[in-house]
Amino acid sequence: MLELGASNGRVLQLSGLILGVLCFVLVLSYASNHMLPAYTQTNPTVTFTVDASISSGHRIPSTLFGLFFEEINHAGTGGLWAELVQNRGFEAGGLNTPSDIRPWVAVGTETQVLLGTDRSSPFVKNPVALRVAILCDAEDSSSSNQCPHRGVGVSNPGFWGMDIREGATYTVKFWLRSTASLSLSVSFTSADGSQTLAQETVEVDSKTCHTWLNQSLELKATASDHYARLSLTSRNRSVFWLDQVSAMPTDTFKGHGFRKELALMLADLKPGFFRFPGGCFVEGDRLINSFRWRETVGPYEERPGHYGDVWNYWTDDGFGFFEGLQLAEDLGALPIWVFNNGISHQESVPTELIGAYVLDTLDGIEFARGPLNSTWGALRSQMGHPDPFDLRYLAIGNEDCWKPYYRGNYMKFYEAIKAKYPDMQLISNCDGSKSALDHPADLYDYHVYTSANNLFAMRHQFDDTSRYGPKVFVSEYAVTGNDAGRGSFLAGLAEAGFLIGIELNSDVVSLASYAPLFVNNNDRRWNPDAIVFDSWQHYGTPGYWMQQFFKHSNNASLLFSTVQADAATNNVLIMSALRAKNDSTGSDYLVIKAVNYGGTALNLQLVITNMPSSDKIQALDSSMTVLTSGNLMDENSFFQPTKVVPTVSKAETAGPNMRLTLPAFSIMALQLGLSSMDADM
Ligand code: AHR
Repeated sequence: MLELGASNGRVLQLSGLILGVLCFVLVLSYASNHMLPAYTQTNPTVTFTVDASISSGHRIPSTLFGLFFEEINHAGTGGLWAELVQNRGFEAGGLNTPSDIRPWVAVGTETQVLLGTDRSSPFVKNPVALRVAILCDAEDSSSSNQCPHRGVGVSNPGFWGMDIREGATYTVKFWLRSTASLSLSVSFTSADGSQTLAQETVEVDSKTCHTWLNQSLELKATASDHYARLSLTSRNRSVFWLDQVSAMPTDTFKGHGFRKELALMLADLKPGFFRFPGGCFVEGDRLINSFRWRETVGPYEERPGHYGDVWNYWTDDGFGFFEGLQLAEDLGALPIWVFNNGISHQESVPTELIGAYVLDTLDGIEFARGPLNSTWGALRSQMGHPDPFDLRYLAIGNEDCWKPYYRGNYMKFYEAIKAKYPDMQLISNCDGSKSALDHPADLYDYHVYTSANNLFAMRHQFDDTSRYGPKVFVSEYAVTGNDAGRGSFLAGLAEAGFLIGIELNSDVVSLASYAPLFVNNNDRRWNPDAIVFDSWQHYGTPGYWMQQFFKHSNNASLLFSTVQADAATNNVLIMSALRAKNDSTGSDYLVIKAVNYGGTALNLQLVITNMPSSDKIQALDSSMTVLTSGNLMDENSFFQPTKVVPTVSKAETAGPNMRLTLPAFSIMALQLGLSSMDADM
C-alpha cells in the first residue's frame, strides 16, 4: 500500500482517538468508495497529459518540503519539549527577589507555609532559588498548627496542567538543601489535589542537608489526570530550598525529550529540512530578549532562560540550539539555523560594531559541526553528540532586509562564514524573486501570509523567476485572516494549490515550509497553525493534512505534464505529476496531484505517454486520496479532530488512460503503483 494520506500506518499511531475515528473513516471510505467517483457528461472536462519518461522533467530537491519550527504559541515550551514543569528555575519573575514565582503555588494556608525567593542557587547563571518555610508540624501534637495529613509545600501546574497517565513513568529531578533533616514527599496529584497519582519520598539527613543535593526519582503513575500538578510537600516544621525542578515523561521521541505524539506528527510529513528557532522569536522585540544560542546549550541547570518579548512568554530554553539540531537529525531533516544578526524589531547594531555577533555565530557553527578538540565541538560531545550535526544552511536574520545596517551586517557575516565554511549555504532576508539581489547569497527568504484567493493565485508566483542566481526558500507561507479562521479547509485548499505551483517550479524553489507549525490551545498568539494541542490532546488542521499530499515529493522526479481545459477551469485548477520511490517496497509509483479550487466537479481524462517499456501500472497497488469538506470554512477541533482529513480509496481502474472525477473544492492525489514487466513473469 502506498504511503500517502491518512492510510499511512504512522498516522494511525498518532493517538487512540484519531486511530479509532480514522479507521472508521477508512472503512466507510473503502466500503462506499472503492470505485472512483462518477465521470459525468455535465462536468467540464480536463485532459491531463503526462510524459512518463524520467528525463521529461527534473529531479525535485530532496529538501523541497520541510518544517519551520518557531517558539511561538508555546510551541516548544509547554509543547514539543516534554518538560512538564513551568518556570523550573524560579527565574521567570526576574533576578530581583522577592520575585513572582507563578505558576508555582503554595500547598497549604498562609499559616502553614511561606514561600519566597532568594539568590542562594548553586547555579551562577540561575541565581534565584525557592525558599520554603513549613510553619506547621504534624509531629508536635501540642501545637495548634498541625500540618494536614497530605503535608504542605509547593506545587506546579505545568503548562495548563500536566498529562499524567496510569502506568507511565516520569523522571522528576530537582536540587534541594535544608536547615535540618527532611522528609519530602514528591507527588503528582489530580488538578484539585484530592487524588495522588504517583508518589515517592526523598529523605535527607542532618549531615548532608546543608549542601545542595541533586535528587532524581522515577515516579510511576497509578491513576490518570490530564490536568495534574507536581507537588513537593512535607509534614514537619522546616526550612528548605528548591531549584531547577524538572519532570519529564520517560517515553519521549527517540529518547531525546520531545513529546512523542507531536514529534510523530512531524515525522509523518517526512520533512526534508527543519528551520528553527524562529521567526520573530530569534529577533526579539528588543535585542536583550532575542534568542542567544550559547545561553541555550549545556546542562539545563545552567541555562538562564529568557523572556521572548515578541510572543510574550518566558522560556526555560530546555528546547535550545542543541535540541533543535537533534530534532532535525531525529526527523531525518537538514537543520536550518536562523541566527540573530544583531537586529531586533527595535534595534540594529551598526556594522562597525557587528564583529562580536559574527564571532558568536562562528562559535555556534563550531558547536554544531566543529571537531571534538574544538571548544564548542567538545561541549556538543559532552551533551551526547560527538558526531557533527549536518548543518549546511544558515539564515542571516529573519525579515530584516529593510532594517538599518542589514546589508552591511549581512556582508560581514557572509564573508566570515564563507571564509571558514565555504560549503555553508547562506540565506538572505531580501526577496530576489522579481529582481536580482544586490548582494551574494545562495538562497533568499520569501514569506507570504495572505487570503485564500491571493495564495491560490500565487501558484504562478515563481513561473517567471530568474533561473540564474540564488534559489528561493519559501520559509513561511499560510492563508491568514478571515479565510483561515483557526485553520479552515479553504486555507488548506489554497495552500495546496500554492504548493503544487512550488513543486512545478522546484528548479528554482529549493525549500518551502508552512508557518506556524504548532499552537498550544491555551496560548494562541497566531492563527492558523498546522498542529493544535493542549496538555494531552492534539489534531492537525487542514493546513497540516494538505502537507501530507507532498510528503513523497522530495527527491522525486517531476514529470513534464500539460493541462488542457477551458479558461474558466484553468483559473481554478493546478496539477502536477511525479515519479517517486516507495521507501518500504523499493518500487516506483506515479503521483498525479490536483487542486480543484472551483465549486464544480471536473471530469479528468488522464493520458500517460512515454511510459518506460519496463513499467506497468498496477491497479491493485494504486489508490486515490482526497481532501475535501462539506463547507469551505470547516475546521478540525478537539471535539472533531478528523472532520477534515484525507480519505483513501482504491483505484481499481488505474491505467495509462483513465477517467475520473475531481470533486469540487478538493485536493486529490492519484497514486499509481508501478511494477516492472519482468517482475510479472
Ligand atoms: O510565523 C509567525 C511570524 O510571522 C514569524 O515569527 C515571522 O517570521 C513572521 O512575521
